[in-house]
Amino acid sequence: MADYAYVKREPGYDAWLGREPIADEARRSYVADWGGAVVAEERDPLVRNAAKELEEGLAAMLGGRSAQADEIGGARRIVLGTFGGSPEAAQPFQAAEMAAVGEEGFRLRAAADGRTLVVAGTTGKGVLYGAFHLLRLLRTGARLDDLDVFENPANELRMINHWDNADGSIERGYAGRSIFYKDNEIVEDLSRVRDYARLLASVGINALSINNVNVHRYETMFVTERYLPQIAKLADTFRDYGIRLFLSINFAAPIEIGGLATADPLDESVRAWWRRKTEEVYSYVPDFGGYLVKADSEFRPGPFTYGRDHADGANMLAEALRPFGGLVVWRCFVYNCRQDWRDRTTDRARAAYDHFTPLDGRFADNVILQVKNGPMDFQVREPVSPLFGAMEKTNMVIEFQATQEYTGQQRHLCYLVPQWKEALDFDTYAKGEGSTVKRVVDGSLFGSRHGGFAAVSNIGDDANWTGHTLAQANLYGFGRLAWNPELSAAEIAQEWTLLTFGSDGRVVRTVCGMLLDSWSIYESYTAPLGVGWMVKPNHHYGPDVDGYEYSMWGTYHFADCRGIGVDRTSRTGTGYARQYKGPNAERYESLADTPDELLLFFHHVPYTHVLKSGKTVIQHIYDSRFEGAERAEALVARWETLKGLVDDGRFAQVKARLQEQAEHAKEWRDVINTYFWRKSGIPDAHGRKIY
Ligand code: GCU
Repeated sequence: MADYAYVKREPGYDAWLGREPIADEARRSYVADWGGAVVAEERDPLVRNAAKELEEGLAAMLGGRSAQADEIGGARRIVLGTFGGSPEAAQPFQAAEMAAVGEEGFRLRAAADGRTLVVAGTTGKGVLYGAFHLLRLLRTGARLDDLDVFENPANELRMINHWDNADGSIERGYAGRSIFYKDNEIVEDLSRVRDYARLLASVGINALSINNVNVHRYETMFVTERYLPQIAKLADTFRDYGIRLFLSINFAAPIEIGGLATADPLDESVRAWWRRKTEEVYSYVPDFGGYLVKADSEFRPGPFTYGRDHADGANMLAEALRPFGGLVVWRCFVYNCRQDWRDRTTDRARAAYDHFTPLDGRFADNVILQVKNGPMDFQVREPVSPLFGAMEKTNMVIEFQATQEYTGQQRHLCYLVPQWKEALDFDTYAKGEGSTVKRVVDGSLFGSRHGGFAAVSNIGDDANWTGHTLAQANLYGFGRLAWNPELSAAEIAQEWTLLTFGSDGRVVRTVCGMLLDSWSIYESYTAPLGVGWMVKPNHHYGPDVDGYEYSMWGTYHFADCRGIGVDRTSRTGTGYARQYKGPNAERYESLADTPDELLLFFHHVPYTHVLKSGKTVIQHIYDSRFEGAERAEALVARWETLKGLVDDGRFAQVKARLQEQAEHAKEWRDVINTYFWRKSGIPDAHGRKIY
């Protein structure tokens, strides 16, 4: 792991909490006028941190000057505090206005005296979020004179899942090694972890699971005194930033470390073991969040071994956690991963729905099911999982993958917020029109007790956290969306760019444009029309059209000399399309109505099938691969226009990645085009070079 003092100075380390002074003179003095002094009188550690962040943020914006009232004559003040603990913070608000602020919400207001800006919340956590919001407003050019902001987060759980292993490796990590672990120990120096907590809190993240869902030997022992004292220190660090710690657990732990002969969730000795363990965990971490569980999935142990189901398994853990207010986050990524590729009746896309919908109503109220956004596995294009909206009596969290496993591994640019927005805005029709996925997971559609968002982390110990500097926008965007899913992908891109690179109009326009185009660019040179996969096995980087075609993983495209695609209709295919409700089922059942971008996910068609765009499937494949590679190349040129406007370190870093992407996009183009030309024998209408 790189030395902290060193990485801290590297470009990109501060990410969107940038340390650059505000470049525009007029703006700087406006901010200086308002930020004369930061006043916070409460002892609450979160209020203290809020004040510290604000002071440091202001000092940085003003060019290193410490923001002291006496240095900036006659300046105004910023007052921070909770309604209950600080009369000055409560002063500008009516009782009803304060009552409307939830546990994590805040209000910002320029008081009537024209001299005071108030950051107030019901709790210290709210004040902290308010302070970060104010910093964001200060940096992005907001007017403060009549400032009046009121926010509550839309989602209860705003969680990051780390797939970090105790040995320091990260499953599907593309930004270096873990910041938490080295050589099967938790790191001693938590300075970097603290900076991470600040980044997360600044975008409203309030929960964090710190170890891989695939729980191996050492991590199984995280719930023992071998690790709990260190885990408690991690929890302390995150607590000061309002973040609760969760652990991924091994369902077979009672056998592997408990000396029991079984892990049967209905066995009383197993239940007692989990109760004792959980009590022990809480004795170290009193506000412990709970357990994240991958069970009966990809060779992980689970209740199936004992003839029990997921509800039995989850409820056992729920029982152990309930006295302490803990949650079970139970993943629905359950499918047959030993499928025979010759078997055309089994469809992996169906699996989560088939496994879980019969259990609706059986899960304890402190269990939340965590469902991946799509039915397969974080492909560049998938339909939305039909499980959303299908379980009215069950709490649900949506799982996104910030780490770019299938979307270019942070070597390619792929801003994922637009993809996530599509999933969140998808109408499930569960209770008629307007039953969007975001309303399923925020709890409002079914009145669920718990819900929210989770994302698989994209950070590691690379100096800039995410490998590709522009991949920071995915972490930022995830947090912002989890807080407020109504924000648009463009708004989030703009905020992030302003915070990260400053307010130069050319930089903002160019970077936002690149971010917003990037998903479509990546999609256009990789697997076509929603069919997915076509990546090299295991590491999943780079093209291999048949890489998963004859495998056990249930991930097929069925291309032959005549056509391609997976028939998931109920009439002639696997019936997956019928897992959707109402108009969605109709749309996906119908070849004519399925949107082009998902065509091959739902239908097997000849290469000569004509798309809504008017092109044949084969010509679409050729055209978009050629265009995609060109657009990837153009990203380099777009970035190059920013030379001198972005600091040299980040400029060079991003440029190198974009160049690699441009080269690699050509490889994708040529492999895919060549494969389909050889399969179909149909030449490109434009006679371009295919091998
Ligand atoms: C993907 C990924 C695995 C991961 C799994 C999961 O399949 O490739 O590394 O363990 O998802 O979400 O559990």
